[in-house]
Amino acid sequence: PHVAIIVVAAGSGTRLGAGGPKAMVGIDESSILRHALAGVFRAEPAQVVVVAPATHQGDALTDALAAAGDRRDLVTVVAGGSTRQESVSAGLRALWPDVEYVLVHDAARALAPAELFARVLDALHDGLPAVLPALPVIDTVKRVAGPRVREAVDRADLVAAQTPQGFRRDILDTAYRLADHEHTDDAALVAAAGHPIAIVDGDPLAFKITTPADLDRARHLVAPVPR
Ligand code: C5P
Repeated sequence: PHVAIIVVAAGSGTRLGAGGPKAMVGIDESSILRHALAGVFRAEPAQVVVVAPATHQGDALTDALAAAGDRRDLVTVVAGGSTRQESVSAGLRALWPDVEYVLVHDAARALAPAELFARVLDALHDGLPAVLPALPVIDTVKRVAGPRVREAVDRADLVAAQTPQGFRRDILDTAYRLADHEHTDDAALVAAAGHPIAIVDGDPLAFKITTPADLDRARHLVAPVPR
């Protein structure tokens, strides 16, 4: 395939406090990673690179093969690094030669729907070099200095960035080679290399599971409707 989806799942999950890597925590009988991969495999056929904690590559492979169905040939599992940026780098090194477009997705955004992947891919196929799904900011946001408000920030100027973020492969490869410090996400790293980032509509279901409250929310969303 000409598309690859890198799913970064190598974080420690300290803020979730589940005592193990976040991506391996169950939402229901299935892990965060397994749910994330359900959306990934409903997108167009792509090489799927799962970047797993070094200690849990076997579990990640089990989840990936279960999600892949009859497309097990598309699955690659590699070990991640100590930062998200190192984990994405590890994923980039595993890409097949014919890949031209790359989506980078947080496993922690486990409920991101297939339509969101399609929206980002459509924008890439339309010729945009770098695509960021984002949502308007709902809360009023303040810039602070210590315990005091310095100023209100006009939220009309702000969006909340999500994943999957999509890039032309050559641009993402070069931007990662040039990166000399940690960036907050792939779009920031690619912007630092001088590329414009296009925005497409995000999806509320692509929220990132970070805290125990986020995990509760995910559990409610996947719970079968009682009858
Ligand atoms: O910690 P946070 O939830 O912001 O991480 C975002 C995503 O990056 C998660 O899916 C996490 O597993 C991944 N990650 C990684 N390697 C790291 C740190 C985070 O793959 N060293």
